[in-house]
Amino acid sequence: MPKQDLAAIHAAPPFSIVIFGASGDLAYRKLAPALFSLFCNELMSDNFVILGAARSEFTDESFRQRIRKGVEEFGRFKPSENDKWADFESRLFYQQLHYDDQEAFHPLRQRLERLEKERGVAPNRLFYLAVPPTIYAEVAENLGAAELAAQHPDGFSRLIIEKPFGTDLQSAEELNRRIHSVFSEDQVYRIDHYLGKETVQNLLVFRFANAIFEPLWNRHYVDHVQISVLESVAVGYRGSYYDQAGVMRDMFQNHLMQLLALTAMEPPNAWDATQLRDEKVKVLRAVRAPSTPGALRTNTVRAQYRSKDGSGPTYRQEPGVDPKSETPTYAALTFFIDNWRWQGVPFYLRSGKALAGKTTEIFIQFREVPHLLFNSGVADLAPNALSICLQPHEGFHLRFQTKSPGAGMRTRDVDMEFHFATAFGEKALPLAYERLLLDAVLGDASLFSREDEIMASWRLIDAILKGWDSGEGPPLSFYEPGSWGPVAADNMLAASNRAWSISCFLDQGDET
Ligand code: BG6
Repeated sequence: MPKQDLAAIHAAPPFSIVIFGASGDLAYRKLAPALFSLFCNELMSDNFVILGAARSEFTDESFRQRIRKGVEEFGRFKPSENDKWADFESRLFYQQLHYDDQEAFHPLRQRLERLEKERGVAPNRLFYLAVPPTIYAEVAENLGAAELAAQHPDGFSRLIIEKPFGTDLQSAEELNRRIHSVFSEDQVYRIDHYLGKETVQNLLVFRFANAIFEPLWNRHYVDHVQISVLESVAVGYRGSYYDQAGVMRDMFQNHLMQLLALTAMEPPNAWDATQLRDEKVKVLRAVRAPSTPGALRTNTVRAQYRSKDGSGPTYRQEPGVDPKSETPTYAALTFFIDNWRWQGVPFYLRSGKALAGKTTEIFIQFREVPHLLFNSGVADLAPNALSICLQPHEGFHLRFQTKSPGAGMRTRDVDMEFHFATAFGEKALPLAYERLLLDAVLGDASLFSREDEIMASWRLIDAILKGWDSGEGPPLSFYEPGSWGPVAADNMLAASNRAWSISCFLDQGDET
């Protein structure tokens, strides 16, 4: 099979993007800054239209002003410092609409067709749902009713959906069913912004473009794997959304399960959306859910942040949160993967808010040496470990033993390190949304979640949530904001003589 030229950088063909929820936070902080970056980097053709649609009242002019503010605040390229802004903003338009008003989608279509005609843009259309998840299906159906879902013979029509995709397995199935009544699966692009992060993509390059790690990447050499996505921010103003979602729906069902799949999957035969996603689904289906009462108690932890002396935030006092809420803001899970590569190797996953620092890291601990020659300092001999640091300090650390200088045979572990910032300069990495929006325009779905991936992930998360809801799980525990999480999570690993690692965060000299 001829190899695709992956090194080639393709610019977007002429296209239109209709952003539903254009007056909201996502468009303000992420989408508009990403589109402007693509424009500044000459990755968009000159012919494009951005049509914002939302309930709020805006004119084209006042919408442009709002978007400009967002880009100024959150963009890599600032309108005030960039002479391309005027050009960019002349392609921004706004159409007021109520999402549940099917009739309103006809004038939207007419406006879009008019703009396409005026600007010479082919009917290549992206519809971005930056609206509350409860109305995803309705907006998709209304697009269908206005004949905007069907692919135009001279163009494409694609639907981009933000997470969360459903609130459990059943609602995700129902949402898929309704969306598929108007858009086929290959028109649907489900965003998980973690897949757009440079370093998450780099995980694949690291695994599959180097010969020395893959032979060790299995049960014969790996003792266990940890995936930590730790955040210092508390729930803040997102209380009413978060109290319904909790850490399992907000972080595990999507971001952590994606990281698990990319770490554990078999090598795909090619960098191709189908093969890549087939491998991810295969490994996700092999993950065993801790769903029996015993497994739930030993292999899952759920917790909430609570400040004992009131010096930090307490989840139950956040605006929009039920004062008796049982929603976890932290969870730790042990998964086993039932396949030949990983049988018996624990995968420990944890994520939480209001912790001591922000770090996303994957830690692979290798097995101990089979026989030790050195009997001094042996008790301290740490096995080899590889830390893959995804954010905010992107890089890799490999831990190994060396001899401490001097008499005797004392050993000490040292780190071999690689940092992106040192190797490639301090230049800001592209925003995840830049990559994902461009891929969606180009029709490359490799970094988007497919229906069966979402379902495989929900099967696991749902089993745990159901177990917790039925009272079979561990009790909710509490942790101090600004700590590294609850004692129960440390105990989960200590039961098998293991401990959590936070090597990426500490290495950079951050304060704990
Ligand atoms: C989002 C979650 O998907 O990811 C947030 O809804 C979380 O709660 C965020 O803070 C973390 O993303 P990042 O890119 O900052 O790691």
